[in-house]
Amino acid sequence: MPATPISSKGITVTAGRPDLVPPKWRREIQSVLIPADKIARRVRQLAQLIKKDYKNSDLVIISLLNGTVLFLADLIRHLDIPVKLDFMGVTSYRTNTLPGKPLVTKQPQLELSNREVLLIDDILDTGKTLNFALGVIHAYHPRSVKTCVLLDKPSRRVVPITADYVGFRIPNHFVVGYGLDYAERYRNLPFIGVLKPEVYATTPIL
Ligand code: IMP
Ligand code: MG
Repeated sequence: MPATPISSKGITVTAGRPDLVPPKWRREIQSVLIPADKIARRVRQLAQLIKKDYKNSDLVIISLLNGTVLFLADLIRHLDIPVKLDFMGVTSYRTNTLPGKPLVTKQPQLELSNREVLLIDDILDTGKTLNFALGVIHAYHPRSVKTCVLLDKPSRRVVPITADYVGFRIPNHFVVGYGLDYAERYRNLPFIGVLKPEVYATTPIL
């Protein structure tokens, strides 16, 4: 029997597991939405899809800071094709968990004109950040641009945008860990967890 093809559109995750939250984090994290081993498997699958699509091209990866660092590091070590790596900074979270207007804090430095570009972000929420970053990249006249996000919250979309490679489709929870933060904390968690609402209700953003 042929193996089921790997989907680029994301694995749907519905419920978190409160019982999997390590005791140290129980005061702040409500449940583990995606455990570390599940993330690792899916990241390998995404790398396989990307490898197949870009095996004959000189790929430039542009990764959005800071949330993508863990995802990017795991993804690229499974990409045994020639890739160049660059970073772009966009801030959008200005107040609590409510997004503000996106701003460029760091422009990409590599030559992008006539290149195949893969833009990576941690999570596609309202779509404003990715849409804004795409606009910035397009101004460099790349040959092609595709997008890859670890997480997608489709129910929150404001700008009609989809990513080409999606790790997981998640419900409308504020999640942290594996690079994702609240007020710059929790990026170091090895899993993706749902933050307790009382944390973002009571902790100032910065
Ligand atoms: P968007 O512009 O609303 O699509 O938001 C994308 C950016 O907001 C991401 O790059 C994240 O930095 C941040 N973000 C959105 N949702 C979450 C979340 O649940 N946890 C942590 N950061 C988030
Ligand atoms: Mg981010």
